[in-house]
Amino acid sequence: TELAYIRNFSIVAHIDHGKSTLADRLIQLTGTVAERDMKDQLLDAMDIERERGITIKANTVRIEYPAKDGNTYVLNLIDTPGHVDFSYEVSRSMQAVEGSLLVVDATQGVEAQTLANVYTAIDADHEIVPVLNKVDLPAADCARVREQIEDVIGIEADNAVEISAKTGIGIPDVLEAIVQRLPPPQEGDRNAPLKAMLVDSKYDPYLGVVVIVRVIDGVLRKGQRIRMMKSGGTYDIDRVGIYRPAMENVDELGPGEIGYITAQIKQVRDTRVGDTITTEKSPTPKALPGFKPSVPVVFCGLFPVDTNDFEDMRDAIEKLALNDASFTFEMETSAALGFGFRCGFLGLLHLEVIRDRLEREYNIELITTAPSVVFKVHTRDGAVMDLHNPADMPDPGLVERVEEPRIKATILVPDEYLGDVLKLCQERRGIQEDLTYAGSRAMVVYDLPLAEVVFDFYDRLKSVTKGYASFDYYILGYREDNLVRMSILVNDEPVDALAMMVHRDRAEMRGRAMCEKLKELIPRHMFKIPIQAAIGGRVIARETLSAMRKDVTAKCYGGDATRKRKLLEKQKAGKKKMRQFGKVEIPQEAFINALKMD
Ligand code: GTP
Repeated sequence: TELAYIRNFSIVAHIDHGKSTLADRLIQLTGTVAERDMKDQLLDAMDIERERGITIKANTVRIEYPAKDGNTYVLNLIDTPGHVDFSYEVSRSMQAVEGSLLVVDATQGVEAQTLANVYTAIDADHEIVPVLNKVDLPAADCARVREQIEDVIGIEADNAVEISAKTGIGIPDVLEAIVQRLPPPQEGDRNAPLKAMLVDSKYDPYLGVVVIVRVIDGVLRKGQRIRMMKSGGTYDIDRVGIYRPAMENVDELGPGEIGYITAQIKQVRDTRVGDTITTEKSPTPKALPGFKPSVPVVFCGLFPVDTNDFEDMRDAIEKLALNDASFTFEMETSAALGFGFRCGFLGLLHLEVIRDRLEREYNIELITTAPSVVFKVHTRDGAVMDLHNPADMPDPGLVERVEEPRIKATILVPDEYLGDVLKLCQERRGIQEDLTYAGSRAMVVYDLPLAEVVFDFYDRLKSVTKGYASFDYYILGYREDNLVRMSILVNDEPVDALAMMVHRDRAEMRGRAMCEKLKELIPRHMFKIPIQAAIGGRVIARETLSAMRKDVTAKCYGGDATRKRKLLEKQKAGKKKMRQFGKVEIPQEAFINALKMD
């Protein structure tokens, strides 16, 4: 296709503002998919993505559109992950297209992720077409949202397209706007050496790794021997195609085009988002800029509830890792929990997705230890270690200082909840950097420790604002603070899975809260159980769980056999969810619940 008739674009939006619904309508209206094959959220292929309404991997679809000017255009939509955890992938896929539709729910207005995503699009030099969605709803207020887009984002919104992705109002106007207002791809040279961008890749059980590519110069064809310039791998292309959204083979992909290739690549780990693909024979002299691997920032331990599941769990984790290079794992042994894995994730959502998949798709019940960030520990001998697990913290006497990752968080919230949000951020050791208004909504910017956010910040934020706040962040870097390891002792035995890094000034408070929570969560035993929090050898908080007064099985003595058996079975099932620590049994949910702060 001639470049003048190609438009490559993405859709940026806050979660739930209607990105997937709009994509579906565009696909439907252009007859890309036969009506009978139409199902909601065509682009969100994975079940889990569909269920949670989030996109983890970039997807692409080619749409053919006969425009009012009499020409037929090829529109390539790249659907990017919408969540902050995947922001690096988003910024790479944005480089692969020239324009964005900015979808804003006209009943809600601009939200935190709208801002984060649109800034990524602006950074990628995109032309941006604002689209106001959900105009079918009585609460839609287009004039107000236009003004907000201009005030808060600073882009022109006079000519925003008003649509309802649900009823179909305005969809033809969106297609015309794409053709008329977004630019065609920049001039590429068909005859130059191949230069293509690796946009994303996913694992297909039949085809192996499928790589989404955007061609800059040259032509991609079946049979070519290609080289990934940064990772160094070489492969023979065995398939070149496009998504409509079903896979369809094509002879070639030329400059400006987006599609996929397969090349007997074994695992997603061998491909890196942002890498440059060229040919082995006549490589392009210059790779694309700005390549960096994404690094996990949140770590936690995952252990099977039933120790017999360990091998199954290893298999499952290895399978998941095939399709997700940003997830890391290594074996871990815990005195308390036995064999498991220490896993690294891009963020909390990423953690939840992987954990859910292990539990649901692979049927493995898990104990998740408290998520922790990576601390940098400077020891007195001048070494610096990356601390992924509080249990590995060196003796306090050996530590010179500890640094922790800090984030810049942007929160948008209706005025009436502002006080609660400020209080929450303050409690989490936040430093307020900015406070402005966008209409009746406040926009606050905080510098916060990531460690204070990874656990339950988002849940707390949602609950104090009744769900009306939106939140987004990026990582600023490392800063020193007074951080220590707090251990938890149950019946005088340290439980490594409950150890955590805390700020010294907040240690007593956290320790007390933990002990109180554990007292509620651990069932009574036949004996008294002390529960303590300690820093080094010093106990800073203590609770005592009193002994059980009566023996439960006592009432079985002499009872009829069926009742006795039933009771024993019930106890056995209950046991599976418990873990033995010395003489004490701790229920599985205690590990997470003990850390939640009210
Ligand atoms: P994520 O995939 O979660 O990022 O959300 P999204 O931005 O893709 O939103 P999605 O398309 O899933 O839409 C969110 C909800 O809004 C769904 O329940 C849609 O049915 C609804 N919705 C989308 N567009 C419209 C619209 O024009 N009018 C109305 N009334 N509802 C809409």
